[in-house]
Amino acid sequence: MIRISPSILTADFAHLGDALKRLEDAGVEMIHVDVMDGVFVPNISIGIPVCRSIHAATRLPLDVHLMIVQPQKYIEQFAATAERVTIHYESECDVRATLRQIRAAGALAAVSIKPATPAEAVFDLLEEADMVLVMSVEPGFGGQSYIPTATEKIAALRREIDRRGLKTEIEVDGGINEATAPLAAAAGVDILVAGSALFNAPDMSEAVRALRAAAAR
Ligand code: DX5
Ligand code: ZN
Repeated sequence: MIRISPSILTADFAHLGDALKRLEDAGVEMIHVDVMDGVFVPNISIGIPVCRSIHAATRLPLDVHLMIVQPQKYIEQFAATAERVTIHYESECDVRATLRQIRAAGALAAVSIKPATPAEAVFDLLEEADMVLVMSVEPGFGGQSYIPTATEKIAALRREIDRRGLKTEIEVDGGINEATAPLAAAAGVDILVAGSALFNAPDMSEAVRALRAAAAR
């Protein structure tokens, strides 16, 4: 079954505890935390202290997405709060070494590719990665539209992972809703990140159900 990792970027940050409670009640599998430094992406969100607070406030595992220039400097601190830590292929680090650093710090290691980066760029990192995150929008903001070329990138990764008999998971992030979830699901995605589709819905539990149903179609 496809798992859902809600992005709290669209939540009201003054009431994060309420948001976490509603997400737990809705039965999601994890919490997607978008960390932005204002340099790797043109936006600034939250960092280590807020990740610590979220980790302490929920029983759900954290799926931390680092959109920062030098992730290698902060891996241990984020890994202490997270089940999985995602770094960007396009960031200024030795990606293979940083994935190893994440595993050594006790978290699942993931690498993300922006819309312009081909899936093949990470093929030789698949042994080092527990997950590949395919960005289906330009990272930086919630509420954007799904870029259709993400679907073929997911499919290409699925084929390569299966061909090599690996267990690497595939996650998609950006513009996921009832209309786009079936595209990513058919291409073989394992985890859907969804922010605005859940936080802007009148009933979050219903929105989670609808997303699961759409992905199962
Ligand atoms: C974008 C973030 C996403 C985003 C998802 O940089 O990585 O997690 O907030 O939001 P929606 O689902 O609204 O596209
Ligand atoms: Zn994200």
